[in-house]
Amino acid sequence: MHSIKSIFKYNSFMQNFSQTPMIQIIPFLETQLKKLSSKESISFKVLNPDYSSSTYNGNSVIIDLHEYIYRGYKTWLDLAQQFQCRMLTPLMVDEYFVIIKYEKLNSDVSFHKQSADKEEKYGKDSIFSLIHKNEEAAYLYYYLQALKNVKIDTRVRILNLGINSGDEFQAIIEVAEDFESLELVGIDYCSSAIESAQEKFKEYTNIKFIQADINELEKLALEKFDLIISIGTLQSSNLEFNKLLMSLVQNQLKRSGAMILGFPNCRWIDGEMVYGARVKNYAFSEMGLLYKDVIFSKKYLQQKKFRVTITGKDYVFLMGTSIL
Ligand SMILES: C[S@@+](CC[C@H](N)C(=O)[O-])C[C@H]1O[C@@H](n2cnc3c(N)ncnc32)[C@H](O)[C@@H]1O
Repeated sequence: MHSIKSIFKYNSFMQNFSQTPMIQIIPFLETQLKKLSSKESISFKVLNPDYSSSTYNGNSVIIDLHEYIYRGYKTWLDLAQQFQCRMLTPLMVDEYFVIIKYEKLNSDVSFHKQSADKEEKYGKDSIFSLIHKNEEAAYLYYYLQALKNVKIDTRVRILNLGINSGDEFQAIIEVAEDFESLELVGIDYCSSAIESAQEKFKEYTNIKFIQADINELEKLALEKFDLIISIGTLQSSNLEFNKLLMSLVQNQLKRSGAMILGFPNCRWIDGEMVYGARVKNYAFSEMGLLYKDVIFSKKYLQQKKFRVTITGKDYVFLMGTSIL
C-alpha cells in the first residue's frame, strides 16, 4: 500500500488537471495512454469532485483565491471507458484534491477475440461464461424495466432465444408474482451452456431448455408464445436478422404477444463492460448496424400493430406489445 506522500515522490511530475480544460486533457491522455502496455497505469490530480455539490462540470470553484475547474466522477469514469481503461479507487490528497488512476485494459482478454468453434464460443468454459450480466446495473436496470413494460405477469408462455446459461430467466424468477404459473422455454445451440442452465434451474419444472439451432426453430414445432425475449443473439452472423424477426412474429408469437429484444451497445473487455458497439475496421464505437436493426424491428413491429418502446444504454432494449 503506497502512502500519498510516496505517490507524490514517485510522481513529482504527476499531471495536474485541476485547472486544465477537458479539450486539452483528452488529447494529452490519448497520447500518454498509447505509450502504455496493458495493465500499466497513469495517474493525474484533479479537484475533489465531492468538494462541491449541485455543480455542473466546467464550473469554477475558488479555493484560496485560485480558480479550479469542477468535474464529477462520472466524467472521469466515462473518460476511462472511452480510453479502454479501468478507473481505480481515487486517492485523497486532501480535502480539495484527489488522484485519479487509470489502468489500461488488456484487450486480448475478451470473448470477442476467443477462437473457439462457433457453438462453444459461449460455452461453460468460455471467457463469455465469466460474464454475469445480472450484476451489471446498466444492463439489469433496463432489462427489469422491459419485463415490467411488457407486463411479465400476464405473459404465460415465454420463449428465450440464445438463453445461454439462463440469466434472463433468473431475473423473471425474481420479479414474477406467480412464477409457477408461467411456462418458459430457452433455446441455444451451445450444448455446454444448455447443460449448465438445466443444472442451475433443475428445481423448476416449468422451465425447459432445448439445445437447437435458431435457424431450425420451426422443426421444433413449438406452440406460439405470449412473449419472445432475445438478448445479444439475433444479430449473430449466422442468423439473418430481418428474415428471422419477421418469421418469429408471424410463426412463433401469439397475435396478442410481446417481444423484448436486447441489442448490445458495448464490448466485454478484461473484466469490464465497455460502452459502445464496435464494428470491424473501426477504431471507435460505430453504432450504424445497431440503429439499422433497431429501426427495422421498430418499423416492422409497428406495421404489425405493436406499440414499440426503445430504451437502454450499454444494451439497447426494444419492447413491442401488441395493441390488438
Ligand atoms: C452473445 S450470447 C448472449 C447470451 C445471453 N442471451 C446473454 O445476453 O447473456 C449469444 C447466444 O446465442 C447463442 N446462439 C447464437 N447463434 C445461435 C443459433 N443459430 N442457434 C442457437 N443459439 C445461438 C450462442 O450460443 C450464445 O449463447
